[in-house]
Amino acid sequence: MMLPSGGKVPEVMSLRSADLQLFLTSAEAAIRHRSGVDGPVSLAAERMFTALQAPSAQAVRPGAARLPVCRHLATTLEHARRQPGPISALADAFAAIEPQLNWKVRAGAETLGEHFLDGHANATIMGPEGLEKRRDVWIGVSLMAPHMRYPDHRHPPEEIYVVLSDGQWRQASDPWHEPGIGGLVYNPPNVMHAMRSTERPLLALWFLWTEQIGS
Ligand SMILES: [Fe+2]
Repeated sequence: MMLPSGGKVPEVMSLRSADLQLFLTSAEAAIRHRSGVDGPVSLAAERMFTALQAPSAQAVRPGAARLPVCRHLATTLEHARRQPGPISALADAFAAIEPQLNWKVRAGAETLGEHFLDGHANATIMGPEGLEKRRDVWIGVSLMAPHMRYPDHRHPPEEIYVVLSDGQWRQASDPWHEPGIGGLVYNPPNVMHAMRSTERPLLALWFLWTEQIGS
């Protein structure tokens, strides 16, 4: 291939921004730091981050928008940044891409009351409406104000949450537990799960392996 004068590869060659790549690299490091070697989380991470090595050919730029609940982001991220280990770098990398995100309420949230409607927001980072449009991996973020309960839900793709704040999770009728900042939650396909914030906002990244269901 002939390179332009100066020998630099043209910018248009790269469909994934450096900030987005740093976010992915930091997320993988944070997951691998806590996932063990050969357990289900490790295997799920291997599937997802291997697929993510290839940028999608469909880079998109959705309109960025915040919701009022996003006022909790700054202090929540600041708290995560003060933690030891790779979660601090992940908080930084997420903060760098956050201004590009299109925050929305959960589909159907109107039926769950004003308290929840005003107290939560989700955004897609990779996936159908993400910064990089792709079908094999769906990455997003959820934010909740204090004292908020996210509805129990289930979905065919397996899921890893990377927890960036205080907050509690549970599966099926198991007891609630608090993973802590940097903790992971793994949901096998179709398991019922929920999360709730306590006296501080809840912020978590989620990673869904959607390849096998072709969503
Ligand atoms: Fe989920």
